[in-house]
Amino acid sequence: METAYDNAPIGVFDSGYGGLTVLREIVRALPHESTVFVGDSARCPYGPRSLDEVDGFVQQICAALVEQGVKLIVIACNTATAAGLAHAQRTFAVPIVGVVEPGARAAVRMTRNRKVGVIATKATVGSNAYAEAIRHLDAGITVFSTATPRFVEIAEMGIRMAEGPIEDFISGASKVYIRPEFEEIARDYLEPLRRCDIDTLVLGCTHYPLLKALIGGVVGRNVTLVSSAEETARDVRELLERRGALAQSAHEPERTFLTTGSDVEEFCRFGARVLSMEMADVRSIAL
Ligand code: DGL
Repeated sequence: METAYDNAPIGVFDSGYGGLTVLREIVRALPHESTVFVGDSARCPYGPRSLDEVDGFVQQICAALVEQGVKLIVIACNTATAAGLAHAQRTFAVPIVGVVEPGARAAVRMTRNRKVGVIATKATVGSNAYAEAIRHLDAGITVFSTATPRFVEIAEMGIRMAEGPIEDFISGASKVYIRPEFEEIARDYLEPLRRCDIDTLVLGCTHYPLLKALIGGVVGRNVTLVSSAEETARDVRELLERRGALAQSAHEPERTFLTTGSDVEEFCRFGARVLSMEMADVRSIAL
């Protein structure tokens, strides 16, 4: 029997650079897949906006990706997932995967004392999407959610401040985000959560894995930090396998990057840092 395959690209998007932390895991898990990434830098941040407004952006970007011929879309943004995943799944024929459910699953698997913290943007926390997704999997878990909007700003700032690939940022030894002014903000946000005796903290925004060293330094080693990137990449792999829609192993993957921002060169330079990979094909896109 002939094996089915599909060499069409996977579409991935975020409000900015954060979604590249998810794309990185997808590329690791599925190295033969072509990808098209959209970074909506012109409208970043999404977090302070209303869910309705972000839902509109999700519809627009999914339509643009479908036009690019993608076979599957990953909403690599928690805010956009909370605001528009269900609506987009109803609108478009291609499968669409969000990051909230995978993150919730990872947290449920990790917690021992069943006290889970969630940090995310204002819109994501307001939507209650994580608390619902976690309790859907285990109704006995207590979820403590806190909006930490300034972390998006700090993450984007750090990308601009440091040289070198972001692995260096994420490592425990990274000093990029360990600055008194950032630590003070992190302590203000995270101390109340620490006092709730959580053993697991969901990084409920795709920008936050960049701040692992800063966040981990405040909550301490006994709290496990969970992000959805790896779990989402696993979901994508399974979904494509099930549909017989993986790319052929001999397929030479193409990587396209589209930004709504005005500075394509900057997107290319900073994005490569998060992705730890050259971003050769970067273009602007008007939505
Ligand atoms: N990276 C996005 C998320 O996962 C949010 C960043 C923003 O506020 O635009 O929620």
